[in-house]
Amino acid sequence: MKSNIALIGFMGTGKTTVGKLLAEKLGKGFIEVDELVAKRAGKPIPRIFKEDGEPRFRELEIELTKEAAEMKNKVISCGGGVVLNKINIDRLEENAIVILLTASSEVILKRTSDDNERPLLNSSSRLERIEELLEFREPFYKSAADLVIDTTELQINGVVSEIINQVST
Ligand code: S3P
Repeated sequence: MKSNIALIGFMGTGKTTVGKLLAEKLGKGFIEVDELVAKRAGKPIPRIFKEDGEPRFRELEIELTKEAAEMKNKVISCGGGVVLNKINIDRLEENAIVILLTASSEVILKRTSDDNERPLLNSSSRLERIEELLEFREPFYKSAADLVIDTTELQINGVVSEIINQVST
């Protein structure tokens, strides 16, 4: 029986906010892979990207996604790029129901607009950057997901109820 729920999806689709409330409602622990990565590296994500490069960040992400997947009874909020390495998804699928949160690129732009913590969105044309990354990643997200929930229109409570309905049927 899978006791974990893993939330995947692009930056700004609500993984953290939804994950925290979902964990509370289901009586599970909440963990965020990005936080584990920053802790292991001893520095925040933007500094890992700047000082050590994206490949080093992805190595750490693989290491910490594995550790998170091996935990029990958790809601795991994954980094947006977790699907880029198939090993992450294989490991998550062993112990977790994998739920993909999606949102339109305009909504993602809005939700991430006052945020400097996401190095991959540092671009003079953020909407184009989002669309380019989304287009590339979409097939990876889709094939990794057991369940897809569009958060474009839904409020957090609605998303959480929808997930609870779907996982308990
Ligand atoms: C990334 C998403 C970020 C973080 C890093 C890379 C990505 O996590 O892991 O900046 O590649 O999409 P969030 O999706 O939680 O913002």
